[in-house]
Amino acid sequence: MELMHAGLLPESLVIDLPEVDVQHEEIFIRIESLKTACFDIDYDPIGDFESLLSFFVYHFATEERIAQESDLEFSEHIKTHRKGLRVLNKALDDVRSGLRDAYSLLRYIELWFERHINEQDKAFSASLQSPRHCRAFPAQANTSFQDLQVGLAAFCDSRYSA
Ligand SMILES: [Fe+2]
Repeated sequence: MELMHAGLLPESLVIDLPEVDVQHEEIFIRIESLKTACFDIDYDPIGDFESLLSFFVYHFATEERIAQESDLEFSEHIKTHRKGLRVLNKALDDVRSGLRDAYSLLRYIELWFERHINEQDKAFSASLQSPRHCRAFPAQANTSFQDLQVGLAAFCDSRYSA
């Protein structure tokens, strides 16, 4: 994954779901850009924070769509997304009202997001890559259950052992 090495997503946070990894990197890029901008005392960060939170909404919807397409139980993960958005929106309100400074919010978002990737998204990716979710395996009519199991195991080995 050359893009990951060249960008702001640490290798340790790559979860091997390209669509999701690219969005994770985009979020880290936006956070770093906001950190730099916040050093300018004339900079008003609220619009960019709102844009970042909108991107979180889009990103969480992407993960939820992938889980749904894969028929994956995702309700606890969705709760974490909803709770995260509530907390981040509350923290942004605190910045708007002067109770919190923008830079501390950025550090908070960064830590929250890194923890979310480590604790939820990595498990999500592992679940998708488990043999149960080898979606491209063609089930065939008139094939015995045992043949299907052997074929599925061979397909999964070839797909995920490389
Ligand atoms: Fe997530």
